[in-house]
Amino acid sequence: METKLTRQIILISICIILCFMVTLYTWRVRRPNFKIQAVNLGGWLVAERWIKPSLFDGIPNKDFLDGTSLHLKSPTVGKYLCAEWGGRSIIVANRTYATIWETFKLWRINETSFQFRVYNKQFMGLDTAGNGIDLVAVTDMPGGRTETFQIVRNSDDLNRIRIKASNGFFLQVKTADLVTADFKGNDSWGDDNPSVFIMWISGRFDGEYQVTNGYGPTKAPQVMREHWSTYIVEEDFKFVSKNGINAVRIPVGWWIASGPTPPQPYVGGSLQYLDHAFLWAQKYGLKVIIDLQAAPGSQNGFEHSSTRDGSQEWGQSDQNIQETVAIIDFLTARYADNPSLYAVELLNEPLSPKASLDSLIKYYKAGYEAVRKHSKTAYVILANRFGPADPKEFFPLASGLDGKVVIDVHYYNNFNYTFYGMNVKQNIDFIYSYRSSQLSEVTTSNGPLTFVGEWAAEWAHFLSVKKEDYKKYAEAQLEVYGRATFGWAYWTLKNVNKAWSLEWMIKNGYIKL
Ligand SMILES: *[C@@H]1O[C@H](CO)[C@@H](O)[C@H](O)[C@H]1NC(C)=O
Ligand SMILES: *[C@@H]1O[C@H](CO)[C@@H](O)[C@H](O)[C@H]1NC(C)=O
Ligand SMILES: *[C@@H]1O[C@H](CO)[C@@H](O)[C@H](O)[C@H]1NC(C)=O
Ligand SMILES: *[C@@H]1O[C@H](CO)[C@@H](O)[C@H](O)[C@H]1NC(C)=O
Repeated sequence: METKLTRQIILISICIILCFMVTLYTWRVRRPNFKIQAVNLGGWLVAERWIKPSLFDGIPNKDFLDGTSLHLKSPTVGKYLCAEWGGRSIIVANRTYATIWETFKLWRINETSFQFRVYNKQFMGLDTAGNGIDLVAVTDMPGGRTETFQIVRNSDDLNRIRIKASNGFFLQVKTADLVTADFKGNDSWGDDNPSVFIMWISGRFDGEYQVTNGYGPTKAPQVMREHWSTYIVEEDFKFVSKNGINAVRIPVGWWIASGPTPPQPYVGGSLQYLDHAFLWAQKYGLKVIIDLQAAPGSQNGFEHSSTRDGSQEWGQSDQNIQETVAIIDFLTARYADNPSLYAVELLNEPLSPKASLDSLIKYYKAGYEAVRKHSKTAYVILANRFGPADPKEFFPLASGLDGKVVIDVHYYNNFNYTFYGMNVKQNIDFIYSYRSSQLSEVTTSNGPLTFVGEWAAEWAHFLSVKKEDYKKYAEAQLEVYGRATFGWAYWTLKNVNKAWSLEWMIKNGYIKL
């Protein structure tokens, strides 16, 4: 009787212990007890002017960078220059308003010479098939001299320009329907001068392409190396490690894998600074997430993906996808043996619908395998698409992969009209209600881990916000995003805009981790 009871007790105990171990195991595998509290090192190896405007200060003729959009009005006829049909046709000057077909995007050749790209992506040029002086937009790739123009600016009124063609003559608006390059030019900038255009800059890009091409091949290497070596230094790693941060997410551009002489206008050598980052991370016990922020062709047309003029061409061919996989392969191979390598994010903020689900699934699968080839332990982060997309669209893919998969979502209460009218309380409520439920939707017990890879305690517009409000707003986000199973990362460590700088927020007591 006694032995039977003892045996039963032992059996039950074993069952309980086994159950406990199984639970603990699944819990550990599904939810690592270590969570990322990271900061992004934005604006470092991929430049962004709004983060560090001074980097762009020394560019000659810096109003005219790659992708700058111009609207050009002829005062003589009182109408806007326009690529008829948006391209593949003639240039006219007969439009009352400037919108899409009236937008010309610059490709910068050097500080005085430019090409003008129209809506359908053709370049303005002389009609070499015709009389050689009429203006057309028919060429898809600017090959010859006739697509290159000089912009001459009136020093007394910077909004007045003249455009000189490669034949040595200025453009002139002869009639609203006829624009030709045959004006000899004189010094008058009056409204009666048919070669004068009144210019409005309607859009611009300020990323890595613009800064490197803006400085040009002689100056850019010097400027970029100075920036890389001074902007983020060992002291920053020490600072964050002492202030509750346990990881850094480092945005890199595709050219980092192109050796010392990447394609123009990019500057080689940023890889060396990523090497430094890994050394410092190891020294201060920080994890590193490598984040491919700029893929070849641009995955979103934003300046932070180093687009030249807003075009988004990533993922449109297998070759382009393979090229991107090779970059992931290269970077993982390089750092796989470094204990600080924690995760590789395959692509930042691909934008739907142009970055298609099909091409991303293909790429994410191949990118995952490229990481696994070198590392069994690194997490692989798949970013959700920006724009219209199902937040769980990569779940079927993730479940077919061999573990350690993370979904990245970015939560900014900015860049969207929804937030413009919101006061402090509404913003904070939005975090507790909407963001919280958004995050729970993607945080499932058997799905991928979740990562709020970018957020900031900044509001959509500058309410007169008190320090206490900032603190509450940051705390709300820390509380909600702290539920992400992989962790979160603040955007960004340093920024001239204070609330976007975690360093400033910590040093001034706005955020405490
Ligand atoms: C700018 O480029 C044009 C066209 O290639 C060339 O003729 C000119 O000499 C260049 N100017 C400078 C300052 O490099
Ligand atoms: C502008 O000029 C072109 C060429 O003559 C003509 O086909 C077009 O209808 C004109 N558009 C307007 C809005 O006047
Ligand atoms: C310059 O050209 C404009 C337009 O043809 C003309 O009205 C003006 O008189 C000219 N000025 C001089 C100084 O030649
Ligand atoms: C703006 O944000 C709201 C809330 O996140 C979202 O429902 C809406 O789709 C967003 N609009 C745009 C244009 O992104």
